[in-house]
Amino acid sequence: MSSSAITPWVVGNWKMNPMQADAQQLIQSFKQQLQQAPLSAAQCHIAVAPIALHLLTVQQQLADAAVPVAVVAQDVSRQAGTGAYTGEISAELLKDSGIDTVLIGHSERRELFADTSVVVAEKVKNALNAGLRVIYCVGESLAQREEGLANQVVLQQICDIARVVQAEQWAQIVIAYEPIWAIGTGKTASPEDAQAMHAAIREGLAQITAYAAKMPILYGGSVKADNALQLAACKDINGALVGGASLDAQSFYQIATAFAQTK
Ligand code: 13P
Repeated sequence: MSSSAITPWVVGNWKMNPMQADAQQLIQSFKQQLQQAPLSAAQCHIAVAPIALHLLTVQQQLADAAVPVAVVAQDVSRQAGTGAYTGEISAELLKDSGIDTVLIGHSERRELFADTSVVVAEKVKNALNAGLRVIYCVGESLAQREEGLANQVVLQQICDIARVVQAEQWAQIVIAYEPIWAIGTGKTASPEDAQAMHAAIREGLAQITAYAAKMPILYGGSVKADNALQLAACKDINGALVGGASLDAQSFYQIATAFAQTK
């Protein structure tokens, strides 16, 4: 199966943004864009990842959007179930509230919040076992790329979760390749470099799972309306994980359109 048969995903990671009123405005504007020119869900899966506090409100506000827009959690606890874990939200609690997808392993969590490979693997295991879909983020630093270690680092991050993912659970995983040096910097990986890494990821996945050819591999790192088409044209880039540009309704809509129409 060619990877071009994969329905693309365009996911807005709002990170620790925006204030409530701005979030409402953003959703309204995005819904208007979708109303004027709907994208079919068969062309593109669209999702947004607001702060935990806003997950359910955003979900309600998007319920009447012209096309389905999924709401994704930005993180999940390493603890499963319920219990005395102050401040935590488990995979089961997300699922129980109707949140079906979670980002795990974002570089900001790995770098700033001690999400080591062990922690990330626990989160992935718990999320999958609770029936969530996982958007698993991988990516190398600038120093690692300059030392020629990018492929090794990224493939190791895939291997880190391989021991906790059961054979059929790979169907519930979306990979997001986000080179750290491209996040929030305005420096996008060139389409050639991004495609080369995505192909390497798919090859690596093929050694681990029979689902490799069907797995969406998203690119993230300064994706904007004006570079989305070039990225979408790459064979193994099956969508985008968008930070800054997802806080602008028109930009986010244009990025989704670029992937929906190119794939
Ligand atoms: P930017 O699009 O702002 O570079 O952020 C990318 C990202 O980290 C998405 O998860």
